[in-house]
Amino acid sequence: MATPIERLSSLVVGSVESVAPGKVEVLLDLDAPQSTAFNTGTPVAFPRINGYVLIPNEAGATVAYISWMGIERSPYPKRSGLKDFGLIDLPFPLRKMSVSPIGTLTSRQDRVSGEIRYELSRGVVAFPSVGDQVLLPTREQVEAIVGAKDANKRIRIGSSPMSSSAAIMVDPDKLFGRHLAILGNTGSGKSCTVAGLIRESIKAADNAINDATKSPNMRFIVLDPNGEYARAFRDMPGRVRVFKPGDEKNPFVLPAWMWNSHEWAAVSQAQPGAQRPLLLQALRNLRAGRALREPLHIGIVRQIRLYRSRTLAYIADGTGASYIDFVGLLNCCQVFSNLNEVMRDFLGRVSENDPVHALMELLRGAAEEFVGRHKVLNARGNGFNYNAPNVAEFNTFLPLFDSVEQALPAVAPEEEISEDAPIPFDVRQLADHVDALSADSSSNPNVANFIATLTLRIRSMLANRRLSPVIAPAVQPSFEDWLAGLFGDTRSTNGQVAIVDLSLVPSEVTHIVIAVLARLVFEASQRYVNHHGQGKALPTVLVLEEAHTFVRRRRDEESNTISASQLCSEAFERIAREGRKFGLGLVLSSQRPSELSTTVLAQCNTFLLHRIVNDADQELIAHLVPDNVAGLLRELPSLPSREAILLGWATLIPVLVEVNELAEEHRPRSADPDFWDVWTLEKERSVDWDAIAKEWAGDVQP
Ligand SMILES: Nc1ncnc2c1ncn2[C@@H]1O[C@H](COP(=O)(O)OP(=O)(O)OP(=O)(O)O)[C@@H](O)[C@H]1O
Ligand SMILES: [Mg+2]
Repeated sequence: MATPIERLSSLVVGSVESVAPGKVEVLLDLDAPQSTAFNTGTPVAFPRINGYVLIPNEAGATVAYISWMGIERSPYPKRSGLKDFGLIDLPFPLRKMSVSPIGTLTSRQDRVSGEIRYELSRGVVAFPSVGDQVLLPTREQVEAIVGAKDANKRIRIGSSPMSSSAAIMVDPDKLFGRHLAILGNTGSGKSCTVAGLIRESIKAADNAINDATKSPNMRFIVLDPNGEYARAFRDMPGRVRVFKPGDEKNPFVLPAWMWNSHEWAAVSQAQPGAQRPLLLQALRNLRAGRALREPLHIGIVRQIRLYRSRTLAYIADGTGASYIDFVGLLNCCQVFSNLNEVMRDFLGRVSENDPVHALMELLRGAAEEFVGRHKVLNARGNGFNYNAPNVAEFNTFLPLFDSVEQALPAVAPEEEISEDAPIPFDVRQLADHVDALSADSSSNPNVANFIATLTLRIRSMLANRRLSPVIAPAVQPSFEDWLAGLFGDTRSTNGQVAIVDLSLVPSEVTHIVIAVLARLVFEASQRYVNHHGQGKALPTVLVLEEAHTFVRRRRDEESNTISASQLCSEAFERIAREGRKFGLGLVLSSQRPSELSTTVLAQCNTFLLHRIVNDADQELIAHLVPDNVAGLLRELPSLPSREAILLGWATLIPVLVEVNELAEEHRPRSADPDFWDVWTLEKERSVDWDAIAKEWAGDVQP
């Protein structure tokens, strides 16, 4: 058996020739291994790009990876001792390599067992010096470098192809706690990696609990726009809930009453002027269970209360910021001019003999007079500006509001229902309600026309045959059941993974559906922490496939209406920024990182990079990592399927991973189209365009 010193010397492969912070040049010994090194205990391919070497120093050893190697012709061989002048020296090939330092490996001897333990730390404590020896790491050292034996790294994502197949393990708290991005070209293995990661996580948790009667309290929510994941978990019944539109057991529904006012405005493209306020009012009314046509006096009282609370806010505003500066002025004068309009409208419907008529006229006149008093022609003479009112002027309105309200039959104070609260209502009434509100609030035919375009959009959306079972299902789940379905119940006894198959949702609305789902998942996690978990979070992982289509890089387009894709990006940006606090981890999978929202990408702390060929995408990724590992990324275009580079928070140093192999039946469905077999009648494909055309045209119910 070799002594430690002998063993050590047998691992020396060369010596340091030059040192710069990011790059160390090494001259390989003549007898260094050529293609495989056997002296490390297990065969190691050496030298190989991205393989590891050690450069021992007083603090332990600097770990470096090979970033370049080559051969230089030297006029004479490298040899020690005096030159033998009797010999003719022939040009001699010298093998050289560049290595990039990435960390420091220290060893510690266990006092009890005497065993030596290695530990890797990030950063380079001492740079090597010229002449230092360069060593091959042993198997134990490699395992320490890739972190295979760390106690809290519990999930095996693959093995290291570089170094004797040491397992590559990750700590789930780190991997999911701070968002993970899985990036790579199509067919590079992202979906398989996601499926494998979830399967391994469940397996690892099962083993840790080690009790067949208990199942792990874990929650994965997979948003699956291509419907490919259901098949990857078929062998795990009871662990996975697949929600699919039209499914008998687990239909995917997202009733439209769960949408908030923003989402409604985006779907119906409500314009800010007249349409949006009416839409919000209708949502508030329906959620509060208010009748479609209420007695007139209730409407008047509601408006009086609304304007009174605005006026009180102006009075309470000590600085006058809300009404003295330019925009504030405009707003406050606008408010009173609206009051004038609203009262004028009501006056037309109140009998002149009614004593309240005179009081309302008084209020209306005061509002009109207020606006007139502050309106001044602007310098160019083509419009109006407003000058500043003082607080006393607002005070004069209070007795006027009171007198009108007192002259009307008493109306109980209404509890303000938010237009955003997820309170069930009959979605099919919404359009009628907006129409009725518009008829009540204005007699202007232009406004009525304008509103009609909004209600038309709402009606046609609800009439869409494929959409209506999702957003207005015949059987409505309660909100709590719906949440339990998506998140899983206490201890997730109904399964650990929820897969939302969105492939059958009409493509025009997948954005809004995903936006709503993401927002609800975020808000539910937030509420859990703030109200029920006593500050503790319910760890949940939200997985989004094809993230580049749903979380797009924002282009600053000016538009009055909010678009669904904007809402979608916003929802995920919010999760990326704040999700960690509420135990919500994001896993994004994308082919086009350069099209992904920069906010979201910047918040991802761990990256699993599969093959990426495209220039723009590679460049973007190079910006995400520190300089000394940029060399590693040069391998990205040539990575085979299943291999990926893991870098970021979950790993001390970037490592190359060969992702666990998934059995054919556990892979997400993503078969390539079989052109040849169909061409050559090997596989039968018949088409029924008639049926397709009928179904297509019949999307909208008559
Ligand atoms: N871990 C793995 N185990 C077994 N096969 C794999 C693995 N990773 C990739 N493959 C093979 O590569 C093929 C493509 O993988 P996958 O569907 O995961 O790619 P993708 O990156 O998700 O592509 P797309 O961007 O088009 O969705 C798979 O069908 C499978 O044959
Ligand atoms: Mg995929």
